[in-house]
Amino acid sequence: MTKKRVAVLISGRGSNMAALVWMADAEPDFPAEIVLVLSNKPDAKGLDFARKSGIPTVVVPSKAYGKDRAAFDAAMQAELEKAGVEIVCLAGFMRLLTPEFCEKWAGRMVNIHPALLPSFKGLDTHARALAEGVKFHGCTTHFVTPGMDEGPIILQAAVPVLDDDTEETLAERVLAEEHRIYPETIRLLASGRLVVEGRRVRVKSAG
Ligand code: GRF
Repeated sequence: MTKKRVAVLISGRGSNMAALVWMADAEPDFPAEIVLVLSNKPDAKGLDFARKSGIPTVVVPSKAYGKDRAAFDAAMQAELEKAGVEIVCLAGFMRLLTPEFCEKWAGRMVNIHPALLPSFKGLDTHARALAEGVKFHGCTTHFVTPGMDEGPIILQAAVPVLDDDTEETLAERVLAEEHRIYPETIRLLASGRLVVEGRRVRVKSAG
């Protein structure tokens, strides 16, 4: 089995990236390998973990590109090509991507969002979920399209919102589910089991 070559794009802590690395390491049959961790922030915490794990890292500093999103995306594209990347995972990557970049990676680029989409797109999802009084919250993996948090949904996991939840306790419960569904999403994508039909994503049975 040839493993798909995956790049994980981060801006910060990188715990989802770490979950992907662990899964890829722990399971000999995992159909993907993490060949690159790319950060747009030189001081992203996740870079330390990647380096310690022996994974090639690269920083493409978005600050240096200012408002020129096309130039930033082109610089990232060059790094991804150099590393022979086949699948791109956004994991806490805090940059909007150009439509051209999204088009280039259509069907091969995924994101994880800490809410049950299409509810609570954007930032501060846990605080907003608490403010709205929803009884269930969760996380979503989805294909990336130019609209923010809008692409076809792949997997979701729900958690109950408890009466005494704070933003932190809720975030923690959701994060545990993120670490479960993101590796699972990559497993399905890398083994060619995801079929996109309009906005719906079907999972083909294995084998
Ligand atoms: C996660 O909650 C993810 O869903 C969101 O940003 C957070 C990143 O956390 N997009 P980490 O960097 O993976 O620890």
